[in-house]
Amino acid sequence: MSNGPRGGIVSGTETEPCRVSVILPTYKESKNLEEMAVRIFRSLDGAGLEGECIVVDDDSGDGTEAVCSELAGTYNLRLIVRKGERGLSTAVLRGLREARGDVLVVMDADLSHPPEKICEMVRRVRDGAEFVLGSRYVEGGEIEEHWGLYRKLNSKVATGLACLLTNLKDPMSGFFCIPRSTWDRCRDLSPLGYKIALEILVKSGAKRTSEVPIFFSRRKYGESKMNLREQLLYLRHLGRLYRYRYPGEIELLAFLLVGSTGVVVDTIFYFLFQYLFGISHLVARAVSFFIAATWNWYWNRVVTFLQGGSPRFAFQWARFIAASTVSFLFNWGTYYLLTTRVPYFVVHKYVALLVGVVVGTTSNFTLSKYIVFREPEGRRAPT
Ligand code: GDD
Ligand code: MN
Repeated sequence: MSNGPRGGIVSGTETEPCRVSVILPTYKESKNLEEMAVRIFRSLDGAGLEGECIVVDDDSGDGTEAVCSELAGTYNLRLIVRKGERGLSTAVLRGLREARGDVLVVMDADLSHPPEKICEMVRRVRDGAEFVLGSRYVEGGEIEEHWGLYRKLNSKVATGLACLLTNLKDPMSGFFCIPRSTWDRCRDLSPLGYKIALEILVKSGAKRTSEVPIFFSRRKYGESKMNLREQLLYLRHLGRLYRYRYPGEIELLAFLLVGSTGVVVDTIFYFLFQYLFGISHLVARAVSFFIAATWNWYWNRVVTFLQGGSPRFAFQWARFIAASTVSFLFNWGTYYLLTTRVPYFVVHKYVALLVGVVVGTTSNFTLSKYIVFREPEGRRAPT
């Protein structure tokens, strides 16, 4: 992501200090821009707010520059053209970096989000909200277009998956308003795909949030750029945000999930070696343990502890096998001690087995986290 301006900038009347910056990411929206500008500035003027509008266009080649030059004659509107870079989220971030206002608004440029709501959102920010969202799913909110079952379900599932990250009803919305302080608090932004509001919400740690109901209109011209690729990116993005918000919990959860799949792998090979190759069950048991431990090592490396790029391949594998072996000994040792020394477990041996599994897993997780997959100095896992 570049920091400095790239591409042409068309400047309009510059009134400093300006209070509200409205950021419009655009890709082939030239036909919608005039109405957007008229409605945005009408609504700002109506509330006595000073404002600027920043259009961040990804070199649409549809006459956006001409339209913006024209509008810049009347309004405090600037166009930033990004060349060789595409993406809604990064365009929004670019706009936010260029913004001069104290209150920052981001919205779609296709007339889906009503500019008339900006003033109410700004008012809430002035009343102390750290993050205000234009929401379709609170009382009074509505969607104009008739959405088919697939799109509805899609939107609900996407929203549901974000439920542990926020209490907001419509975190998929791209219409939001924040005070500059929220933007300044954002750390480690690494957006993927479309859901920039969610990214800013999580990374800024905004607590005082609020939702303004909106009527989500059907776009007038052009078409949506939302597609399957964006939806898959959303899942990856969500994974990163969860990891950011709950680093320890996610690590443990991933470790346990990997371990469970390891048990399945272990079992499959244990039987396979015996019945397919006629190997004795004692040997099969030992070999399947190595295969399962290798499986666990690989997935813990690429999923749980994010050490994918570490060059210490064989060394790390050997240490993981050692950690797994030690942990298995703890597991078995616990079972042995309990069932030979404690009367209760002499009767309830299966409970002793479970206690052993817990002890072994705890040992394996601890050794993995602090020894096998410990991050080398000066290197941080991506968030
Ligand atoms: N600069 C830039 N670059 N802008 C983009 C790009 C891009 O690659 N892709 C899309 N945009 C702009 C569009 O021009 C539009 O102004 C806005 O981002 C939203 O894009 P749409 O393609 O119209 O999105 P949508 O209608 O499917 O999605 C809307 O609903 C989602 C929730 O259902 C948007 O409001 C999303 O923000 C929202 O998350
Ligand atoms: Mn749209």
